[in-house]
Amino acid sequence: MFDHQKYSQFKQVQLEDRIWPNRRITEAPTWCSVDLRDGNQALVNPMSVEKKTKMFKLLVQLGFKEIEIGFPSASQPDFDFTRKLIDDDLIPHDVTVQVLTQARKELIDRTYESLIGAKRAIVHLYNSTSAVQREQVFRISSDGILDIAKNGAKWVREASMKFPETEWIFQYSPESFTGTELNHAVTVCDAVVSEWKPEQGQKVIINLPATVEMSTPNIFADQIEYFCRHLAYRNAIIISLHTHNDRGCAVAAAELGVLAGADRIEGTLLGNGERTGNMDIVTMAMNLYSQGIDPNLDFSNIVKIIEVVEDCTEIKIAPRHPWAGELVYTAFSGSHQDAIRKSMQYHEENDQKIWNVAYLPIDPRDINRCYEAVVRINSQSGKGGVALVLERDFGIELPKWLHVSLAKVIQRAAEETGQEISSANIHALYEEYFIKVKQQWLLTDYNLKHRDKHVEAEFYINGVAVQCHGSGPLEALIQGLNKYFACSIEITQFDQHAIESGADSKAQACIELAVNGQHYSAVAIAEDTIAAAVQSVLTAFSRSFPERHRGAA
Ligand code: KIV
Ligand code: ZN
Repeated sequence: MFDHQKYSQFKQVQLEDRIWPNRRITEAPTWCSVDLRDGNQALVNPMSVEKKTKMFKLLVQLGFKEIEIGFPSASQPDFDFTRKLIDDDLIPHDVTVQVLTQARKELIDRTYESLIGAKRAIVHLYNSTSAVQREQVFRISSDGILDIAKNGAKWVREASMKFPETEWIFQYSPESFTGTELNHAVTVCDAVVSEWKPEQGQKVIINLPATVEMSTPNIFADQIEYFCRHLAYRNAIIISLHTHNDRGCAVAAAELGVLAGADRIEGTLLGNGERTGNMDIVTMAMNLYSQGIDPNLDFSNIVKIIEVVEDCTEIKIAPRHPWAGELVYTAFSGSHQDAIRKSMQYHEENDQKIWNVAYLPIDPRDINRCYEAVVRINSQSGKGGVALVLERDFGIELPKWLHVSLAKVIQRAAEETGQEISSANIHALYEEYFIKVKQQWLLTDYNLKHRDKHVEAEFYINGVAVQCHGSGPLEALIQGLNKYFACSIEITQFDQHAIESGADSKAQACIELAVNGQHYSAVAIAEDTIAAAVQSVLTAFSRSFPERHRGAA
């Protein structure tokens, strides 16, 4: 059955002198949310009036000025919801509600009935115009389609005259526009528009739906530019787009459609809608935002938006959903983590005004997401990420050479569990392997006597006095250990610095020893530098015993 020859390529638009590819988007289009109509129609459980009210309030809060609230002539809950918004005075003065109707007189009359008392409303008329719908579904000619549209437009205008207290805006959609011959779409829309008389001041919106997304977005943009160039009254009309996501390009199509001349965009929050969904307004608006363009919508609390949308639609947002998904500000790969850390540091140190951080197209904090989510550790992470987690969450700074052995320990744990390793687990493993090593000797006290360039040392290890000498305390201890255990210990790496611990300052020593050629590292924190250094030697040496932990050097 999997046979591509069943399908044919979408025809290109003859438009050699297209201008849209050289244009740029410099401002946000007018947005119209269709969450409460198109989005709602596509739900297993359509929203109750309560849920619709919740969604409506969110849309208003986000800054939508045009909201399609339903299809009142086709659904009693939509009729009731429309009435509720008007009767309870829930529509802010700067927000215009929109309702959908088919081109049938009784449905148009019922639509106006639902809107009695509204200050302003968009009546959205549609009928299907594509060749497939004409020939296979309605079995009527192009002229038949034209008549349906013209009659619908006439009934919409006539019915509006019965309610002069409301400011009426008319909208027409040639449904299945993408499958309609362009000249036919222009003819139908011209006829509808001329019925509505925009030249006499009537506000008209022509909404061009990619009811089914059928081509690459560049062809859609060509369709829009062609349509805009050929439409009569172009300057008196608002051109709106309503893209669906069948090919996964609804946002791209809308963006290119704006370049091609559209003024207004219909879509839903996070893309709910028929089949693969409507165009996602969050994605398109955030795309603008990340280019320094004010989207005129406030997505500063994406967490709350997701909560309301998930509650109203009963559909979970995918973890990789652009801008909003749970994982989109998370880097799993070590090289990404390292780059993010360096880039963020650079950003802070240089007080950068324009955000330009590796792998993060926006600052997640702008939309109420946090840096804690930026780095997670799993078996694919590199050493930089692990060190970043310790530094970020526990203020532990380790020298670079120690990152390698730490990362090995964490990577092994991740491989064994096959899971992501939480920040708390990383910390626990770090302590277990590098600080609180089993079989450990603890330095309880020490005395040093300096004679010329020589030190006589007495270390109390687990309460037992051990005497040794050398050119410094560490050399003395190592000589003592070498002699006592008949082995060869060498310090291959050492790093020491002061750390803040409440009001006091302590010393942190990090060491790597070669014990009979094998490398072992450890970290110790103590009241003073000598105690920290001596303890780090004891801890690293402890790790060289057979009972010591498996694990990284
Ligand atoms: O997708 C579509 O064509 C529609 C119209 C009714 C605008 O939702
Ligand atoms: Zn639609």
